[in-house]
Amino acid sequence: MITIISSTNRPGSSTLKVAQYYQRQLLARGIDAGLLSLSKLPPNLIQTDLYGSRSSEFEMIQNIITITDKIIFIIPEYNGSFPGVLKVFIDACSFPQSFYDKKAALVGVSSGKYGNIRGVDHFTGVCHYIHLNVMSLKLHIASIHNELDAEGNLIKEDTVRFVGEQLDKFVKF
Ligand SMILES: Cc1cc2nc3c(=O)[nH]c(=O)nc-3n(C[C@H](O)[C@H](O)[C@H](O)COP(=O)(O)O)c2cc1C
Repeated sequence: MITIISSTNRPGSSTLKVAQYYQRQLLARGIDAGLLSLSKLPPNLIQTDLYGSRSSEFEMIQNIITITDKIIFIIPEYNGSFPGVLKVFIDACSFPQSFYDKKAALVGVSSGKYGNIRGVDHFTGVCHYIHLNVMSLKLHIASIHNELDAEGNLIKEDTVRFVGEQLDKFVKF
């Protein structure tokens, strides 16, 4: 099973639109991928689900991760790196079995010029620590406000082509 993770809880985020775009592109390839937005995390997660505690609310999310073998992380650039809520989510998931020997594709998103190159690199280090195998083809979508139309579709030809290439590779990965 493939799950796409929209790695922010910011209301109205572009990251969620990109995640939904990836989900539609997988569906067009006959793959019914799940989508987990970190906006669905329990709001008091740092009290209920760190350091061995587990809430019934997060248990449902943990169950999704447990049955997932491939994850596509769509990761916005926040202060030059990946969002803190993504690290809290990783820390809340059961270790090591949640991600061990599974596979991931990474996509950076930013309003600035760099498409979260540094944040995706930072997160790659975390993935390696938890034995989550990262596909070498990573995408960096900069100036996201110029990339999406009103329906949430990517409009630039080269970006559309790179997403297609990344997805085709990830399906085989
Ligand atoms: C807390 C915060 C920090 C941000 N820091 C950066 C940054 O360092 N570089 C950048 O290009 N954009 C930065 N942005 C803008 C995001 O890249 C922009 O909102 C983009 O649409 C992706 O994030 P989103 O999914 O929340 O919309 C930041 C946004 C927030 C909310």
